[in-house]
Amino acid sequence: MQVTAVSSAEELTVEVLATHYPRATRPLLRANMVASLDGMASVGGRSGPLSGETDRRIFRFLRAGASAVLVGARTAIAESYRESPGFSGDLAEYRRQCGLPKALRIVVASRSQERPAQLPGFEHLSLAPETSPGEVLKRLDIEGPAVLLCEGGPTLLSELARADAIDEYCITTSFSLVGSGDAPLLPGRLKALRPLIGTSAIITAEAAHFRLVRPPN
Ligand SMILES: NC(=O)c1ccc[n+]([C@@H]2O[C@H](COP(=O)([O-])OP(=O)(O)OC[C@H]3O[C@@H](n4cnc5c(N)ncnc54)[C@H](OP(=O)(O)O)[C@@H]3O)[C@@H](O)[C@H]2O)c1
Repeated sequence: MQVTAVSSAEELTVEVLATHYPRATRPLLRANMVASLDGMASVGGRSGPLSGETDRRIFRFLRAGASAVLVGARTAIAESYRESPGFSGDLAEYRRQCGLPKALRIVVASRSQERPAQLPGFEHLSLAPETSPGEVLKRLDIEGPAVLLCEGGPTLLSELARADAIDEYCITTSFSLVGSGDAPLLPGRLKALRPLIGTSAIITAEAAHFRLVRPPN
């Protein structure tokens, strides 16, 4: 387990982050979420209050290394998602080194007929949660090793977790207590306890950022 303690986000260079969150060597579903110490995923309908500078730096780095983001329709609306965000500075360079296009594809997971009108300009995808990352990427015409980055929300995350479809959980535990927030990180029940293996952690005074993977079968 690799542990790095930092006092500010500036210490999280691309080189440091790349050792904590390695590039994909196969089609990979990576989930990135933040939760309070008591497991809540939002405050007043937004995740922002739980997020600090280091979390935002990791969020952008994970985006820079992703072929596409998969996001639940309600999150895309609540968090005012933009289509095809770009990158600047060291993250633009990292993305270029990864051989990825300049702009990031944002794919909205939705089933309802109204969503395309509510979220015009986005790609929309309905998927069976147990669909493998490789199959989802194939549907998006993305070949070879690639990261599909799921940014939640909790409803989409829990569907995928119940189907055990998530290869990597990048979880920020914010050192804050929310009490009865809007929603827990993982609403609903899993079929069974799902142990994960910690591969790395970045620790600050405000939060711990874990990368956790599924144990091999
Ligand atoms: N803490 C964090 O890291 C974090 C991250 C993201 C969001 N959030 C917060 O979470 C809240 C929103 O999350 P939420 O749980 O309400 O909703 P959500 O997971 O963002 O979106 C749920 C919607 O996603 C679609 N969906 C889910 N599974 C699907 C599947 N397998 N195939 C196709 N579509 C699927 C459905 O859309 P249709 O209704 O169109 O069928 C469903 O209603 C916001 O408050 C946001 O701020 C927190």
